[in-house]
Amino acid sequence: MTAALAPYRSAAVAAVVLRIFLGGTMLYAAVDKALLDPRFLQASGVGSIGETLNFFVTSGGPLAGIVEAVALPQPVLIGASMAFAQLLVGASLLTGSWVRLGALLGVGISLTLALTASWGVSPYYYGNDLPYLVGLLALAALGDGGVLRLGAPAQRAYSPERRAAIVSGTGVAAGIAALLLLDRSRAISAITEGGTPSPSPTSGASPTPTPSSSAPAGGTAIDGASDLADGQALNFSAGGTDAVLINDEGTYRAFERACTHQGTSVDWQAGSGDFLCSNHGARFSAEGGVTMGPANSPLRAIEVSVAADGTVTYRR
Ligand code: FES
Repeated sequence: MTAALAPYRSAAVAAVVLRIFLGGTMLYAAVDKALLDPRFLQASGVGSIGETLNFFVTSGGPLAGIVEAVALPQPVLIGASMAFAQLLVGASLLTGSWVRLGALLGVGISLTLALTASWGVSPYYYGNDLPYLVGLLALAALGDGGVLRLGAPAQRAYSPERRAAIVSGTGVAAGIAALLLLDRSRAISAITEGGTPSPSPTSGASPTPTPSSSAPAGGTAIDGASDLADGQALNFSAGGTDAVLINDEGTYRAFERACTHQGTSVDWQAGSGDFLCSNHGARFSAEGGVTMGPANSPLRAIEVSVAADGTVTYRR
C-alpha cells in the first residue's frame, strides 16, 4: 500500500466499522421487535408499539399530528413495517449491498425517531437517535468502502451530478440534525423566561407529582399491599395498566410503571430507594420526579389511600 492509497484504506476501515455497528444494531432492533419482545407488536400495553406511538403523540414533536392521524389507527402494521425497514437496513449494511441506499433508509428511520421519540429529550445528548442519524449520514456519504461487499452492484463511473446530489442531501439532513442539537427546549426556555434556561433533568429539580392524601371513595383494593414492608414495592394492575405501589416509611404511593421517556417499565430499586428504567437509564425518585434523564417528566401518579383496617386502595 503506497502513501497515496492510504486515505482510501482509512475510508474503507471507517466504512466497515460503521457498517458493522450500525448494520448489526439495526438487525438486532428488527429481530427484537419482531421475535424477541412479545410485548412490542401489540396495539396496547406497556412496551407495545401502541403505547410507544401514543407517547410520540403526547410528546408533541413536529410529527405528532402525522403519527396520530396515520400511525395510531394501525399500530401493529406500523410496528411491523418499522421492524422490516430496520431488517432491510441491517442486511444492506452487513452484506455490503446498496449500502448508500440502505444508509439513507436508516437516516429516514433515525430522523423520524429523532423528531418523535427524542424530541422532548433535554439536554439533547440524552436522545439516542441522533448518534445513529449522524453515523448513518456519514455512511451514506462514505458508501461501502469498497470492501466486504456481497452482491454489490457494479461500481458506477464517477458522476459529479450524483456526488452533488448526495452531498446536498446529506447537508439538508445534517442541517435538521443541527437544529435538534440546538436543544430546542432550553433555547425556548431561555427566550421566554428572560434567559434562565430550565434545569436539566439530572439536577433533580423536575416537578414531582403529589399523590392525594385524602382517602378516595370507592377505590379498588390492591392485593397484598397491607403486607408491604417499608422500602419495598409491589407491582399490580390498575385497571389493566401496569402499576407499582411503594411503601415509603409508611407513606404509600402508586405510579404507572411506564417510563415517561419511551414507555419501558420502570423497576423499584430498594437499595437506592428510587425507580430505574433499564432502557436508557432514566431514574425517578420515590415521589416520581425525574432525577436522571433522558426522561423529562415525572411518573404518572395513581391516587391511593389506606383504610382504617390497613386495606390499600387505588382509584383511577
Ligand atoms: S424508555 Fe428511555 S429511559 Fe425509559
